[in-house]
Parts: sequence; structure tokens; C-alpha cells
Amino acid sequence: MKNFSSTIRDQRLIQAALGRGLPPLTGEFPAIFAGVDKVCLVTGSDAPASLRARATALFPEGGQPHSYYWLPPSEKAKTLNEAAKLCAFLFSRGFSRNSLIVAAGGGTVTDLAGFAASIYMRGIKWVSVPTSFLGQIDAGLGGKTAVNLGGAKNMLGTFYQPALSVCDTAFLDSLPHAELRSGAGELVKYAMIGPAGLRRTITKNLSHALSGDKSALTSCVAACAEFKLAVVAGDERDERGMRETLNFGHTAGHAFEAMAEGRLPHGEAVARGLRFALIVSRDAGLLKPADFKKMDALVDALHLPPAKVRADFRRFLSLVSMDKKARGAGNRFILLRAPGRTAAARDIKDSLLKKAFEGALK
Ligand SMILES: NC(=O)c1ccc[n+]([C@@H]2O[C@H](COP(=O)([O-])OP(=O)(O)OC[C@H]3O[C@@H](n4cnc5c(N)ncnc54)[C@H](O)[C@@H]3O)[C@@H](O)[C@H]2O)c1
Repeated sequence: MKNFSSTIRDQRLIQAALGRGLPPLTGEFPAIFAGVDKVCLVTGSDAPASLRARATALFPEGGQPHSYYWLPPSEKAKTLNEAAKLCAFLFSRGFSRNSLIVAAGGGTVTDLAGFAASIYMRGIKWVSVPTSFLGQIDAGLGGKTAVNLGGAKNMLGTFYQPALSVCDTAFLDSLPHAELRSGAGELVKYAMIGPAGLRRTITKNLSHALSGDKSALTSCVAACAEFKLAVVAGDERDERGMRETLNFGHTAGHAFEAMAEGRLPHGEAVARGLRFALIVSRDAGLLKPADFKKMDALVDALHLPPAKVRADFRRFLSLVSMDKKARGAGNRFILLRAPGRTAAARDIKDSLLKKAFEGALK
């Protein structure tokens, strides 16, 4: 097991445990579990039984009684109503400010359960246990919690750090290939925005990770999680420009995801958003054609299936202008100047966006 922690500016610690086949964690992190009166294990209703069994083995029922809560599958979980239902469940079971939520699942489970933890009794402790590839390299780390609103992604949410994030890559053994590929959408994002060492690790392991190779997956999770936690430690509340780089490809990606109405997994939408951002970066004269080619080849390597998105450019424009990061501009995107170097750009011409939109959905 590899444990690491980063210290945020106000001296709070972000802690993570990484590895494959981790031991029970209650004994490893006694400070987190001391004084906890009750534990609620939250998972997705479509998760395999093995996921729940492994999560329970990581947090065995000891002094504290466990309650179990199942969320609706995937994005259906991320509504204000589902957060209220989970809070009502906790209340009915007598959960107090000394209680703990363990969220074990994909990014939708950790986003929703983290959100509920942040509002229940003005905030109770939670532990994030991402079980999808995408969750272990990104969604389950860093304390952004969210629900969707009116068809737009992540419009309500909080910054609320888990007491611990646990990335056990043994969970990935039961993950279907389509979910590995979706996670690889976020993986190639890190290769585009991250430092050269991270890019090398990802490039070396990408095809093996896509085919489910255990050691390649563990190497990618360790490298990406370490990078993400360092970025979060430097800019926890997304105010200093560092954390915003993680949003590369996401403004367009979220729009594609919303337009597909549940038919496009998050990471695939992000991968198409990355291609969109690469085309805009090249055509705006920021990114050299040779660098574009290298970065775009990473998207090619994912062998994405056809996007199930209607090519409605007007709707796309309206969605990207609603993005949280638009900050009053007509549109605002994170672009790439070179591998590892991003730049924010606003009010980009529609003609340029249209070409990238068509290129991304091809
Ligand atoms: N908070 C953040 O910083 C952040 C960052 C990136 C993405 N996200 C959010 O994460 C979500 C996407 O996460 P996701 O890709 O994990 O999707 P998901 O939560 O929908 O999970 C995908 C599918 O994989 C299944 N699954 C999960 N773990 C499994 C396992 N070990 N074995 C078998 N099946 C398993 C789930 O049951 C689900 O059917 C989006 O809502 C996105 O907005 C959040």
C-alpha cells in the first residue's frame, strides 16, 4: 500500500491510500475512525456484488453498526432529490455529526454521497472509495462534489474533502471494457496537461491499461492520483488557475454528455471534448500542428465508438455558454499551447468552434 498526503494551504491534509488488494483500513487510519458512532456504506444499485463485498472488507463492521444505501445507477444518482433521499435515510437511522459515510462506486456515487455528506447536519465525515478507473484517477479525489441541474452537469455542489480517498485497483477487475475506455478519456487528458514524466507513464501504459492489464492500471492510477492531489493541494477551491487546467476538454465534453442524454459515458464525452479543444487550440494558432498530431493520436488510441450525439451546433453553443467556467463571457475554454501548457481563452468565434465541433463528433 502506498499512502500519501498533500497539505492544503490552510494546513488541512488530503490523505489517500493506493494499491492493489489493500488490507482493512480501519486499523491503518485509526484517527479517522476514532469516535465514529455509525457508518453508512453507499454504493450504486447496478454495482456487482463483489464491489460491495470488497468495500465491506476494507471497512469491516467493528464497534460501529453499518447501514447500507443503494443509489440509482450512474448519472440518475446525481440529483438534488437523490441527495435529499440519502439525507432522509441517514436521519431515519439516527446518523449524527459523529457518523461517517463511505462512498464506494464510480464518480456518480462519490459525487452524490460526498455532496450529501457536505450538507447533512452541515457536514459529516466521509471516505471516498472510487471503484471505476475514471473515479480512481480523477472523480474520487479532490473533494469536488456535485449534482446536475436542469440537464446541465454539476451545477450544484460543494468543495468538501473526504477524510480519506482509497484507490484499490483490485476493484477494477470487475469493470467492463467500456468503463475502462471511458476512464482512459480522463487518462489521456492528464497526458496532455501534465508534466513530461506523467505523460511518459501514461503513453507507456495506455494500451495495456485499456486491455485491463493490472499492473498498467495500477501504475496509471498511482501516477494520476498523485498528480491530481498535488494540483488540488495548490488550488483546492479552483481559484488560482491550477485546478482549472484539469478542466481541459470538459466544457465541450459536458455539452456533448448533456446532448447525448445518458447515451455517452462521461469519459467518452471528455475524450471528444479533448479533441474539440485540441482542434480549437491548433486553429487559433496556439498549438503547433506537430504537437496537435501527437496529442490527437492519444484520442485515436482509445478507439472510441461513434458518438451518439445529434450534430446540433446551436444547442452546443447554448450549453457551453452556460458552463460554470464561462464567468460572464459568451464562451470560455481551456486550450493547449504545448504538451503540459494550458491557457484560458474566451469569446472564440463561432466559425472556429463549429469546425472543432464537427471534428470532435466525427
Ligand atoms: N468530482 C470530480 O472531481 C469529478 C471528476 C471527473 C468526473 N466526475 C464525475 O464522475 C462521473 C463519472 O464517473 P464514472 O465514469 O465512474 O461513472 P459511473 O459512476 O456512472 O460508473 C460507471 C459504471 O461503472 C460501474 N462500476 C463502477 N465501479 C465498478 C466496478 N468496480 N466493477 C463493475 N462496475 C463498476 C457503475 O456501477 C456504473 O454502471 C460523472 O458524473 C462526472 O461528472 C467528477
